[in-house]
Amino acid sequence: MPAELIDGVAIAKSIRAEVAADVQRLGKRGVHPGLAVVLVGEDPASEVYVRNKGRACEEAGMHSVTIRMPAATTQAELLEQVHRLNDDPAIHGFLVQMPLPKGIDADVVIRAIKPEKDVDGFHPVNVGKNLIGDRDGFVPCTPSGVQEMLGRSGTDTRGKECVIVGRSNIVGKPMMALMVQNGPNANATVTVCHSATRKLKEHTLRADILIVAAGKPRMVTGDMVKEGAVVIDVGINRVADASAKSGYRLVGDVDFESARERASRITPVPGGVGPMTIAMLLKNTVRAAEQSASR
Ligand code: GUN
Repeated sequence: MPAELIDGVAIAKSIRAEVAADVQRLGKRGVHPGLAVVLVGEDPASEVYVRNKGRACEEAGMHSVTIRMPAATTQAELLEQVHRLNDDPAIHGFLVQMPLPKGIDADVVIRAIKPEKDVDGFHPVNVGKNLIGDRDGFVPCTPSGVQEMLGRSGTDTRGKECVIVGRSNIVGKPMMALMVQNGPNANATVTVCHSATRKLKEHTLRADILIVAAGKPRMVTGDMVKEGAVVIDVGINRVADASAKSGYRLVGDVDFESARERASRITPVPGGVGPMTIAMLLKNTVRAAEQSASR
C-alpha cells in the first residue's frame, strides 16, 4: 500500500495559527514580535523566500521588516546593518538571507548577529546550545520543522534507527543533534551519511526514519528505502520539464514515486518540509520576543 502523506502545508498552517494566538497574547502585555530579513543582491530564489516570509509574518500579526541592500554592498556596510538590528528594540529576531554575494564572508556576518536575535540558529552559541540540548537557544528552522512533522504525524522516534543523508550546517548537522537528544520526538540512534559515505544503500536500508537533505534531485530511490520507513525529503530541486508552463518542475532528493511504494509515511515535494521552515521561523521569533520581555 502506498505511503500516507505527511502534509507540510496543513501542519505549517496549524503552527502559524498557534503563532498568531501567541502574538495576540503577547500584544496584551505590550509585546509586539518583530522580524527583520536582510536581503543582499537579487538572487531570484531568495526573493521568493523573503516575500513569503514577509507575508507569513503579517498574517500572524507580527511586525515585519525587509531590508534590501544592493549586490555591491561591502561586508563593512552589511555588518553596520547587522549592528543596527542588534540594537533595534522593535526587532526581536532577524536573519541575513543566504547565499551572500561574493566578497562577503557569511561566517563573519553570522557571528556578528546577537545570539538572542539569531532566529535562524546559525550563530555558534546557538549551534552549541542545540548540541548540548539547551532549548533556550534557537534551532535552525528546517531541521526543527522536520522534528515537528515527525511529532505531529505520530511518528515514534524513540530507539529508532534514524539515518540522515547530508551533513550541512543548516540541515544535516543540527538534525543529527535534535534526533539524538534524550527527549520527545527524538531519542533515536542516528547515522549521518555524506558524500564520502561508502555503501550508502546499506545505511539507508536500515533506517526506520530516513531524512534526506543532500541537494541532489531524486538520489534516494525506492530500493534504498526499508519497508515501512518514514521518509522525510528536505530537497527542493528544479528539473527541466518540457510539459510544464515554466519549463521546469520541483522535485525532492527522494524519488517520490518509487519511495512511496515502500515507505509507511512520506513527505511530498512541494508541500512537505518547505512550508515548515517559515512556520518555525515565526515560532522562533515569537520566542525571541517573549525572552526579551522577560529579561
Ligand atoms: N537561504 C535558504 N534557506 C535559508 C535560511 O533558512 N536562512 C537564511 N538566512 N538563508 C537561507
